[in-house]
Amino acid sequence: MPLRCAVAGLNRGALFVAKLQANPECEVIAVCDPRAEKLAEHPDAQGFEDFDTMLADAEPDLVAVVTPGPLHAPQSIAALNAGAHVLVETPNVYSEDEAREIVRIARERGLKYMLAEDYVYMGWCERLRSLVDDGALGEIIGGMAEYTHDCRPVRPLSAATEEHAQSWRFTNLPPLAYSSHTLGPLLELMDDRCVSATGLVGGRREVAGVEVFPLEIAVLETEGGRTINLTNGFMLSHPFVWMAALYGTEGSVRVINTDYRDPQALRVLVSTDDEPGWRDWPMEWHARDDGRDHLQVMVDAFVESVVENTPPPFDEARSMDFCLPGVLAHESARQGGRRLDVPLF
Ligand SMILES: NC(=O)c1ccc[n+]([C@@H]2O[C@H](COP(=O)([O-])OP(=O)(O)OC[C@H]3O[C@@H](n4cnc5c(N)ncnc54)[C@H](O)[C@@H]3O)[C@@H](O)[C@H]2O)c1
Repeated sequence: MPLRCAVAGLNRGALFVAKLQANPECEVIAVCDPRAEKLAEHPDAQGFEDFDTMLADAEPDLVAVVTPGPLHAPQSIAALNAGAHVLVETPNVYSEDEAREIVRIARERGLKYMLAEDYVYMGWCERLRSLVDDGALGEIIGGMAEYTHDCRPVRPLSAATEEHAQSWRFTNLPPLAYSSHTLGPLLELMDDRCVSATGLVGGRREVAGVEVFPLEIAVLETEGGRTINLTNGFMLSHPFVWMAALYGTEGSVRVINTDYRDPQALRVLVSTDDEPGWRDWPMEWHARDDGRDHLQVMVDAFVESVVENTPPPFDEARSMDFCLPGVLAHESARQGGRRLDVPLF
């Protein structure tokens, strides 16, 4: 019997429909989106405009939650309560309470819950993992990352509406809540997790009744005694940049991507004590050495954990490690930079 899968949110979610369908263990039996035209794009699955109705009528085994950010936690909780395993897009939570509730239900009900943090599965991250595992950088003592992307053209402030405010691209998305694409890979490469979060916000203001956080900075402390600083901003005049660095006792590496649509726009620089001085390490952003599509690898790994009843690559605790420190750093920024403890689940 194939796993009966459902996908909610059919913009990026259409990718999840395709990846789940491509897995021989799965059948996508239901899709959900309030926009009827989106449902019509998936004629082989039963379409639902309402999420709770979908859970009650379709009774899926697995739900992929790919809706606007603020819906991720409430819909994940509803799906877990309905007995479904959950694969959820980032950011998976917007508060510590949501994180605690999800961890509690997933554990009580013995269900798999995983943040769909796909950057960890990209080719560049796999290669950095082998560099770290080979010991080329010595001991990793810290990291930094920046994720800045001018989203004003897709969500202009002049068009601020409640619907916009729900969108992951918009404004009142606290930038540090969207940290898993930087923090996730750094923590995986360090094999570590955060224990405290401090944040500051730059340029905070209110536009059309919506609170805007143009630029946020986090300082995170890890269990392994490392430091990580993150800079995130989505409502500022700054073309897309995703960059990260790992600092080691015997070497360091820097990754910078200046155009997510251009595979050639990635630069990776490495310096080691054996060969000091920055040198280019040519590679593409997505392309993996095994030639597989990184999203398919992620979806297949989650499905395997459900079918085999083994822990998923990022279980409920690890999924919180990737997002909650950023959420708490944002909360710290709201409180004027008070250092907050990050719960370890
Ligand atoms: N991993 C990545 O690289 C990456 C990239 C893009 C987006 N994302 C994440 O994926 C999510 C979706 O992104 P997007 O670009 O598709 O967003 P979007 O806002 O363009 O689309 C969201 C879709 O969800 C639908 N929707 C709204 N309310 C719903 C509800 N109650 N139930 C079901 N569907 C509902 C909307 O009609 C729309 O079709 C976001 O949370 C975003 O953070 C991740």
